[in-house]
Amino acid sequence: MENKSKTRKEIEKQKEYIKKVKEINKDKNQKYSILTMGCQLNENDSEKICGMLEEMGYTKTESQNEVDLAIFNTCCVRENAEDKLFGKLGELKRLKEQKGTIIAIGGCMMQEKHITDKIKQSYPYTDIIFGTHTLHKLPEDLYKALKEKKRQEDILDIDGKIYEDLPIKRDSNIKASVTIMNGCNNFCSYCIVPYVRGRERSREPKAIIEEVREIAKQGYKEVTLLGQNVNSYLRVEREKGIEFEQYEGVNSFATLLRAINKIEGIERIRFVSPHPKDFTDDVIEAIADCDKVCKLVHLPLQSGNTKVLKEMNRKYTKEQYLNLVEKMKEKISNLTLSTDIIVGFPEETDEEFEDTLDVVEKVKFEQVYMFIYSRRVGTPGDRMENQIPEEIKHKRFDKLKALVESQIKENNQKYLGTIQKVLVEGTSKNNEHMLTGRTDSNKVVIFEGDKSLIGNMVELEIVSEHMWYLKGETVPTVSKER
Ligand code: 5AD
Ligand code: SF4
Repeated sequence: MENKSKTRKEIEKQKEYIKKVKEINKDKNQKYSILTMGCQLNENDSEKICGMLEEMGYTKTESQNEVDLAIFNTCCVRENAEDKLFGKLGELKRLKEQKGTIIAIGGCMMQEKHITDKIKQSYPYTDIIFGTHTLHKLPEDLYKALKEKKRQEDILDIDGKIYEDLPIKRDSNIKASVTIMNGCNNFCSYCIVPYVRGRERSREPKAIIEEVREIAKQGYKEVTLLGQNVNSYLRVEREKGIEFEQYEGVNSFATLLRAINKIEGIERIRFVSPHPKDFTDDVIEAIADCDKVCKLVHLPLQSGNTKVLKEMNRKYTKEQYLNLVEKMKEKISNLTLSTDIIVGFPEETDEEFEDTLDVVEKVKFEQVYMFIYSRRVGTPGDRMENQIPEEIKHKRFDKLKALVESQIKENNQKYLGTIQKVLVEGTSKNNEHMLTGRTDSNKVVIFEGDKSLIGNMVELEIVSEHMWYLKGETVPTVSKER
């Protein structure tokens, strides 16, 4: 409780800084740009950053030449994001010199000392560096950077608290993301996340439910619950006796799904990412029972080989994963699955990699997110001796990709002639005369229709497939209610 009043006071203080920066920006038509790297959690953090900036009088621009404040929300899960950030920072130097653009870098990468050292040394014109635990302090950092014209470095190494009531500007007005927990306790040996996002902390049930009620009131139809390990929601709190307030009977992930399923207005509930080891029966039953919970479940596999899984510290075997899939298929009708796979983890042999292909063949995933193993400083994987040469990693990746693509093609055939419920998200990027939406299984469907259908659930007959999307046609039973 004492913690809660402290965080509330902190947010009040930041709201004062929001007012102060707004005053500085008055009549100045200040513009900001934001580049978000990485996962949906980062995207959700960026929505909070945008919410704060717009309250401070900034408006968003896509045109680099007019940017007064450039924000980077970084990711460090894989190496390529680093090259992208440094490239962009180099590009901004000229703008900084011409226009005095303020440059602020936040997010996961800023929790890594070797990265912040590099920024200070090679890009000294950076104004603000903030971490994953200090995002809420951006108004204060910005105020100080504007007033004192001194670089602000605001990084916390300890686990951050949960701050409620930050302003938010969401990217869509149909689908919303809601973070339900921060951090991760799993320490998969390839992964940097536990080091940069800290230990697991769940948000209070009441705060989450009220946020979902609010977005439902605003007309959102779909909510995605976010966390590094969503299906262990409140587990640490329960196990360690950390006080939390039960609300609407919520004391676990399963009960949270059931409570959100009751919220009027919300038509679809998704969640990412769960961990296979935490897929308890109550969660499976909740997915089966709750009509609004999408039957596409993301179940990260990472590797199909038991020895590699052990090295990865994933805490399940190939057989346990396959048994879990069987159990879920039995209990959840119309279940579809997506997954994450890493190829080329240290010591992985060709034979062990074959097990990954075997699981992919057996499970027939709806979607596979494939990653080439990337060494992350400070993780056990980085310290392992037998790192796999790049060309072998790429060969394995190509082999997996070919298998996945042939399965997707085959799987698409199943949709042909079926009627699918599609949530219409907007006009198609490639053809503004067509509308685009997604099925329960998250497949993109393109169809011809009136723009008034945007934001509605429609029924479409699938008439053709095109690898990454399906084409549909409206059927007479379109439900038009909002
Ligand atoms: N190298 C490659 N992929 C990784 N992932 C996490 N860490 C690494 C890494 N070091 C992948 C995992 C995870 C997804 C979000 O990113 O598959 O599930
Ligand atoms: Fe990383 Fe594993 Fe935690 Fe996911 S569960 S964030 S892969 S350590």
